[in-house]
Amino acid sequence: MPSVQLTIARDFTVGPVPPRLFGSFVEHMGRCVYTGLYEPGHPSADADGLRQDVLDLVREVGPTVVRYPGGNFVSGHDWEDFVGPREDRPRRLDLAWRTIETNEFGLSEFVRWARKADVEPMMAVNLGTRGVREALELLEYANHPGGTRMSDLRRAHGDADPFGIRLWCLGNEMDGPWQVGHKTAHEYGRLAAETARAMRLVDPSIELVACGSSGRGMATFGEWERVVLEETYDVVDHVSAHAYYEEHEGPTGLADFLACSADMDAFIDDVVATADAVKARGRHSKQMTISFDEWNVWYLSRHQQTDIAQGRSGWDVAPRVIEDEYSVTDAVVVGTLLNSLLRHADRVAIGCQAQLVNVIGLLRSEPGGPAWKQASALPFEQVRRHARGEVLQLQAAGDRVDSPTYGDVPVVDATATWDEESGTLALFLANRAVDEESTVALSALGLPSLRVLDAQVLAAPADGDRHAANTGPAARPGRAPAPARHGRRGHDGAGPAARAVVGGRPARRRLTGTPGTVGQRLGWRSVSVLLTMGSRPGGPP
Ligand code: AHR
Repeated sequence: MPSVQLTIARDFTVGPVPPRLFGSFVEHMGRCVYTGLYEPGHPSADADGLRQDVLDLVREVGPTVVRYPGGNFVSGHDWEDFVGPREDRPRRLDLAWRTIETNEFGLSEFVRWARKADVEPMMAVNLGTRGVREALELLEYANHPGGTRMSDLRRAHGDADPFGIRLWCLGNEMDGPWQVGHKTAHEYGRLAAETARAMRLVDPSIELVACGSSGRGMATFGEWERVVLEETYDVVDHVSAHAYYEEHEGPTGLADFLACSADMDAFIDDVVATADAVKARGRHSKQMTISFDEWNVWYLSRHQQTDIAQGRSGWDVAPRVIEDEYSVTDAVVVGTLLNSLLRHADRVAIGCQAQLVNVIGLLRSEPGGPAWKQASALPFEQVRRHARGEVLQLQAAGDRVDSPTYGDVPVVDATATWDEESGTLALFLANRAVDEESTVALSALGLPSLRVLDAQVLAAPADGDRHAANTGPAARPGRAPAPARHGRRGHDGAGPAARAVVGGRPARRRLTGTPGTVGQRLGWRSVSVLLTMGSRPGGPP
């Protein structure tokens, strides 16, 4: 049986847990907004057309910040189209996803939704087809109290109070040739710097994110960050990073997939090294942080074969696009990606899992029908709830598993947080051993004697199907599983669904073994385990 020995020490910390690490992303893409967040005719819709069933799940899963309105969408979008009276808003071609954007849902609706969901809004401006002036006008519309053309326009539209949006992205994935208005690093760096300088004049309280690379595999990766940060270092606060992973077909696909957080670790380390080199060279004093504002499992290679991706069809309103259905295996990987972000809490200030609903979503919803959590929502929710206080440095010794692309990685991926206030330690563990349980021994130096408060396990169902997914209310715990259908995760459109039930299996365990040592056997093909331990009763909410 594989085993790992973890060592942590109370005083050896990475840094405080950044609350914005547990963000998400809402793009005008597919059914994320329309029939996801917003569906006026839905039985649960409130007077604003916002689906309460989705809002309830969002509050449970608990993202802290939500990026909006794109994504590739933003690079061709005119913000003026999605403000003001609905009947005057134009229908437009969305070139990014070859759909029709009705603009029925827009800025004011999003801000209202964000307040109800208790999330911080994070806006992106269009630096693909537009520039400094349009970004300034949008910021003035959103944040200036009144008495000027744009702020009075907002007031005339019914929003007397400014929106007070602090976080702004300077465009999206401008390094990507697929981006409408794609630019070279020099072109983008200059534009981003000019836009940032001017936006700070409108509202000095904002935080700005410059576009980094849309993937570590981009040919321009590294050089892009260097050039963009040389231009923008003094006027931006964060540089972005995006990463999506999938299980490829073939004999090494699973091993690589389970180890892909090693790529995210390396990606972050590379961006930090580049930013710090720019800092040194420019004699800057501030430290750049990373906004990892798109990350997830995404079966991108399947999407690339679809008509929309190949530019053959489209121009529908809110079609089903990349509605990937997440399995237990995917959820394990999502857990390891969250661990990677936590491990870098000293340099990653913001993380946005992409996306929130339907489109590679944590949540799914059906038009006129139910809404439910995908398997990937469980590790997200657990980490968001229990990661408190300080992230601890963690040494892992013991068994490792090999992956052809990312090298060997510990059989159990782990992070730990310590919350002095509540006296609570949280461990987040993902077992990469596919057919075996793994044991974990913990040596916690400088921590009081521990007892287990709570342990949550996400595991494959009794039949051991690692492709099991939460296919909807019929397959939710307490209900009968969906009829067994073969196939794997969903494709674009109504693809085949995986079968059976995925759910959190709460279990209360007492600490056994010598003081300071925890023996935790992970379930067969188990994916993510949360142990919350404390020196006194009562854990985090
Ligand atoms: O999240 C889906 C897409 O992935 C976003 O629109 C884009 O920024 C990224 O390429």
